[in-house]
Amino acid sequence: MTTAKRIDGKAKAAQLAQSITRETEALLAEHGIKPGLAVVIIGEDPASQVYVRNKKRTAESCGFHSVQHTLDTGVSQEDVLALIDDLNADQSIHGILVQLPLPGHLDEQTITQAINPQKDVDGFHFINIGKLTAGLTADAFVPCTPAGCMLMIQDEMGSDLSGKNAVVIGRSNIVGKPMASLLLQANATVTITHSRTKDLAGVVASADIVVAAVGRPDMVKRDWVKPGAVVIDVGINRVEKIVDGEKKTGLTGDVDYDDVSNVAGAITPVPGGVGPMTITMLMANTLRSARLAAGLGG
Ligand code: GUN
Repeated sequence: MTTAKRIDGKAKAAQLAQSITRETEALLAEHGIKPGLAVVIIGEDPASQVYVRNKKRTAESCGFHSVQHTLDTGVSQEDVLALIDDLNADQSIHGILVQLPLPGHLDEQTITQAINPQKDVDGFHFINIGKLTAGLTADAFVPCTPAGCMLMIQDEMGSDLSGKNAVVIGRSNIVGKPMASLLLQANATVTITHSRTKDLAGVVASADIVVAAVGRPDMVKRDWVKPGAVVIDVGINRVEKIVDGEKKTGLTGDVDYDDVSNVAGAITPVPGGVGPMTITMLMANTLRSARLAAGLGG
């Protein structure tokens, strides 16, 4: 018995991308400005290669100026910082993204903090983290994955989450922490859980909103979830599945979709849920950055 509504992130992202494309056309026609996005990828991580390809493709389809810098795994930190300096100074670039994770010899903080906060469309710079944490969300670049999750949550529950319990599983800087800030800003009562949390299932059972971002395939089960809860699955896990007797590599989330669909009110699938929304929010941030750089409203 499947009762949950399937939240179609792919369709919602496509719809948003259409309005970004229209706004981009207008910005070019009226002001001669084309949003520019530079994506830097270092090394051979196969998942990163797929994400970066999707970002580039979406940027092009939105009508952006899209640049990709592919650097060798062994590149020096100085060379990465020099490239970021160039991109910071390049007037045709409004958004800079360095795809994570980085090879071990590179320092993630030094590199992400070198990006001009006004071009930090990932929302990883301390200035943007600080604004988000201080509740100045309208003035910050908000990290793309939690921003996309939030749109889907508010589509289901309305913009004011007063009286709702939200449980975030995972405390990463990319998802868990900024997600909690956004939920708090919308008046939810927020709990962040992680690998050291006692009775995780018991904590999740109190949630009207569950955001799972831990990287453990199919971890969240139906008996963890309060009936009617909105469940957002950020996990993208590569797993071997047996399909028609054949071993295949597939993607699965942190939530056991088929199982949890029996109790949740609404749930995002993997793939086709959070992933496409994340990419579209990157486009929204880049367009906003281009408008702000031109002295137009964001
Ligand atoms: N790696 C996984 N997610 C992200 C993201 O949102 N931004 C960047 N730069 N790297 C990532």
